[in-house]
Amino acid sequence: MLEIRDVPGPTPGPGEVVIDIAAAGVNRPDLQQRLGVYPPPPGASDVLGLECSGTISAVGDGVERWHVGDEVCALLISGGYADKVVTPAGLVLPVPAGLSLLEAAALPEVACTVWSNVFMLAALQPEETLLVHGGAGGIGTMAIQLAHALGAKVATTVGSEEKAAFCRELGADLAVNYREQDFVEEVRQLDDSGADVILDHIGAKYLERNVSLLATEGRLVVIGLMGGRKGELDLGALLSKRAALIATLLRPRPLESKAAIVASVEANVWPLVADRTVKPIVHATFPLDDVRRAHEVVEESSHIGKVLLRT
Ligand SMILES: NC(=O)c1ccc[n+]([C@@H]2O[C@H](COP(=O)([O-])OP(=O)(O)OC[C@H]3O[C@@H](n4cnc5c(N)ncnc54)[C@H](OP(=O)(O)O)[C@@H]3O)[C@@H](O)[C@H]2O)c1
Repeated sequence: MLEIRDVPGPTPGPGEVVIDIAAAGVNRPDLQQRLGVYPPPPGASDVLGLECSGTISAVGDGVERWHVGDEVCALLISGGYADKVVTPAGLVLPVPAGLSLLEAAALPEVACTVWSNVFMLAALQPEETLLVHGGAGGIGTMAIQLAHALGAKVATTVGSEEKAAFCRELGADLAVNYREQDFVEEVRQLDDSGADVILDHIGAKYLERNVSLLATEGRLVVIGLMGGRKGELDLGALLSKRAALIATLLRPRPLESKAAIVASVEANVWPLVADRTVKPIVHATFPLDDVRRAHEVVEESSHIGKVLLRT
């Protein structure tokens, strides 16, 4: 149920800019929106797309930082699979130094999700261990690189040997093939006190094992429910470990909260991108007309890193 249609072009209101889109990232939540289980927030466009890169073509009243002609990328509420999008100026970022306009489209959603959850909320420390599930995906490849850059130990789960090898090259100390090995046992061999922070998008299916693997004062951060939404939580295990369970969605947050995340990403992540410590991992780029194929690739999970659409 994906179709390309002509709609009226956007005009910027106060505090907004219009971006002529060069490329848009495909994120797994887009697949869920397509399936009807992740609707856009009230008032937002129902055009898919949580991030883009491009050139500013119009600027609304009160916008001082951005000008027509600036090359940027942006975290979007929706609307990235298009030629043009209107967005609040506070969600716009410069293209990091040294990156092409196309590559910049691969960053905003994963950088903001990983930075806000692993670093701002769970406050991962350099001497700690992070377990990130699905290390070869868009979120996973960003989490491995950022945590490794911080100096933390990084463990990850993956579905194939090819993905495991890629994650190790990116900086993972351990890549567990979850189809063949038990990640709880394997991570304990890396750090016998367990994982200080777990970034999880599997949900119910991993809840019990995630909680059992948490270290004392560990933080389990749930950002997705690929393995189901209803599980049994052992509160006793959390109590005795003084552990925390956090669950968040980025898109429905208020604008001010998202703008604060975007500003923190620019201050903390963009310098690591500029010096090539953190790289956009682009698996494939499709023309917007081939959006169905792009969704199929993510659905099949054959990708490593990000799939992009070129408009
Ligand atoms: N809360 C938020 O604000 C937010 C924002 C963005 C994304 N997300 C969520 O984050 C998740 C990742 O998004 P993405 O765009 O990075 O998707 P993605 O690129 O498709 O990555 C998902 C990865 O999960 C792996 N996977 C699947 N089943 C697994 C399992 N049982 N154990 C471990 N890994 C498994 C897949 O590889 P294999 O198939 O080979 O296992 C794939 O590499 C999605 O659930 C998405 O909804 C949440």
